[in-house]
Amino acid sequence: MSNNLLTVAYIAASALFILSLGGLSDQETARKGNLYGIAGMLIAVVATAIGSINGSGYGILTVAVVPGVVIGAIVASRVAMTSMPELVAILHSFVGMAAVLVGIANYLQPGQPLVGVEETIHKLEIFIGVFIGAVTFTGSVIAFGKLRTIIKSKPLRLPARHFLNLVMLMASVGLGVWFMGVESPDGLMPLLLMTTIASLLGVHLVMAIGGADMPVVISMLNSYSGWAAAAAGFMLSNDLLIITGALVGSSGAILSYIMCRAMNRSFISVILGGFGTSNSSAQSSSQIMGESVSTTVDETVEWLLNAKQVIITPGYGMAVAQAQHSVSEITKQLRKRGVEVRFGIHPVAGRLPGHMNVLLAEANVPYDIVLEMDEINEDFLKTDVVLVIGANDTVNPSAAEDPESPIAGMPVLEVWKAKHVVVMKRSMASGYAGVENPLFYKENTHMLFGDAKKNVDLILNHLQSQEEAIGVSKALATSTAG
Ligand code: TAP
Repeated sequence: MSNNLLTVAYIAASALFILSLGGLSDQETARKGNLYGIAGMLIAVVATAIGSINGSGYGILTVAVVPGVVIGAIVASRVAMTSMPELVAILHSFVGMAAVLVGIANYLQPGQPLVGVEETIHKLEIFIGVFIGAVTFTGSVIAFGKLRTIIKSKPLRLPARHFLNLVMLMASVGLGVWFMGVESPDGLMPLLLMTTIASLLGVHLVMAIGGADMPVVISMLNSYSGWAAAAAGFMLSNDLLIITGALVGSSGAILSYIMCRAMNRSFISVILGGFGTSNSSAQSSSQIMGESVSTTVDETVEWLLNAKQVIITPGYGMAVAQAQHSVSEITKQLRKRGVEVRFGIHPVAGRLPGHMNVLLAEANVPYDIVLEMDEINEDFLKTDVVLVIGANDTVNPSAAEDPESPIAGMPVLEVWKAKHVVVMKRSMASGYAGVENPLFYKENTHMLFGDAKKNVDLILNHLQSQEEAIGVSKALATSTAG
């Protein structure tokens, strides 16, 4: 492939990646965004393979790519929506590992001999790329372990942990000076030592972060993996990899910022970790007074049928129970009867950004009744019934009312302001952040215990059988009149 054609292919792929990001920002265009991304990646892989490999290289590439494609396709098609963050975490670790391996290989066997400033810049690219790659690799593996609950989600708080991080960082800088000062291959020793230290740093950084901050960690690692890929692009002099890495790196950083804002956490406090300890939740739990009141499906149906305004706030439990299709049917039934039904979506409801939006779109809930937290929060006051389906942290009033709460200041859906709140969950257990929820003890709250899918189906059956009964009596009335 000529250089000009390669450039055109790279520009086309870059444009498709940008269009893909644009498409993914809205659920109505997300499908198209995905297709742009797939097309861009296909062009990128084919153009790079044709443009940079020749002869026996194709054989090696096939041996590497075919099993990768097959394993990737099988794993991705089997993964449950609720396990998607784990998949994303482990995929980030691959990017990190690739950056480390490319860096070391590139150091031992550079593509072309470089001298002077060019050599210095190239060595710097390798060192930084391997550093980011190693942190991303081990950090992502730990994030995967925490999400899978192979590793406890409680933050690890070693004494003088910030000092320890600083020592590791300074040691890496020192090794960098050694690496830059010697000729290849003598720099291999400082490079490998730095890789070991950076790997430990990745483990320590993520181990220190509590479960509640895992979403931000995932998008932060997403950002790191982008920068690692961009660094690999510099090492390989591949413009497209630089552009793609920069797009992933910056969009991951923006997403992390948006999520921090949604949880009222500063980016720095997330990175430094320590949120979500069991001590703080115990303190909060002891302050909760009163008893919770449970309700029945019949009573819930009655409230729903007498309501003018209903808001449904789904959370992780709806995803686990796979109740979205039945929830969509309930929505249709209520709207048919003139009840205004809307959905309130918290930015970090579920286990990944946009989790609830994807499930509701899959169940054909109209986009225009699915509102973001900021759009709907003021409307709870004039709402008759709120159905909280498998949500917990995202509707926890202690975030707004208890300055001592570990989630104090996090914006939440203010469901408790409605006339009736029905919370559908299986027990009084706390949510992901491990924080007790005073909502369950409020006077206007009723607990509808049980699996969300089972209870939503029971509500739906009531509504459907009532509709059928009305249909039959109407038909009878018509035939009697006739
Ligand atoms: P959570 O606070 O995690 O609460 C979910 C609730 O669902 C649980 O209390 C659980 O109670 C209930 N549940 C589980 N299975 C159920 C089932 N089959 N039927 C009925 N209920 C069921 O959920 P949330 O309100 O969506 O908040 C999300 C939390 O996850 C936040 O703390 C957020 O920071 C964190 N997080 C978010 C993300 C992103 S990006 N969205 C990623 C990782 C973590 P029972 O056990 O009593 O049933």
